Amino acid sequence: MKIVMLGAPGAGKGTQADRIAEKYAIPHISTGDIFRANLKAGTELGMKAKEYMDKGLLVPDSLTVDLLMDRIAKDDCRDGYVLDGFPRTIPQAEALKSALEKKGEKLDYAIDVDVPDENIIGRMSGRRACVKCGATYHVVYAAPAKEGICDKCGSELILRDDDKPETVKKRLAVYHEQTQPLIDFYKAEGILKTVDGTQNLEKVFADIIDILGA
Ligand code: AP5
Repeated sequence: MKIVMLGAPGAGKGTQADRIAEKYAIPHISTGDIFRANLKAGTELGMKAKEYMDKGLLVPDSLTVDLLMDRIAKDDCRDGYVLDGFPRTIPQAEALKSALEKKGEKLDYAIDVDVPDENIIGRMSGRRACVKCGATYHVVYAAPAKEGICDKCGSELILRDDDKPETVKKRLAVYHEQTQPLIDFYKAEGILKTVDGTQNLEKVFADIIDILGA
């Protein structure tokens, strides 16, 4: 099963992609996580990506598309994957479509996790991310068992640099301008499904399972 998660920053794409990956035993591939891992490792790609991420801007397609194509060519993607944060522009969506077509493949679902802007800022300021494994929590809605510590690997939880309110506002503006048009793109492809992302985490996931099948 090949799935793309759509939605504004903080809509809950990563949270739900994690659950989908676990339930359907497919990899969860987040371009944001890949950039953050590169930054942590001090690679040139990570340094370049940081310049854009810290300003709330998209990393250029020239750095993003090949990276994603290499990732989905790996063996663990044979039975599918859930993409979180890619595509984010129409050229990225077209590049993915044509790469899949060359292999006689196609996406099965584009799931839009719909959350209005007014809900987003609160979510982002309460989000905490693990410095080591990237797992995501929320101080109120998805709190770790021990404050400030990752349930999965025991490492420290931090507020992401790009989750500060000014940067979130910029990310939302960039989302509306460059990423929201993908909703019409995937509607035209006939694979768009929308879930109400303002519901609690479990209800959002239940709605996604209804779409994907148990
Ligand atoms: P990325 O890491 O992809 O960030 P994003 O899309 O902005 O999405 P987020 O990870 O911020 O949010 P999410 O929707 O996954 O929400 P989450 O589940 O964490 O990208 C970061 C940057 O990298 C970009 O700005 C860009 O610069 C660059 N980049 C990445 N991919 C790129 C690409 N393809 N092209 C160009 N540039 C790219 O949830 C948010 C919070 O809410 C959490 O605390 C969570 O616990 C909580 N929460 C989730 N669901 C619920 C719920 N139902 N109720 C209550 N709380 C909830």
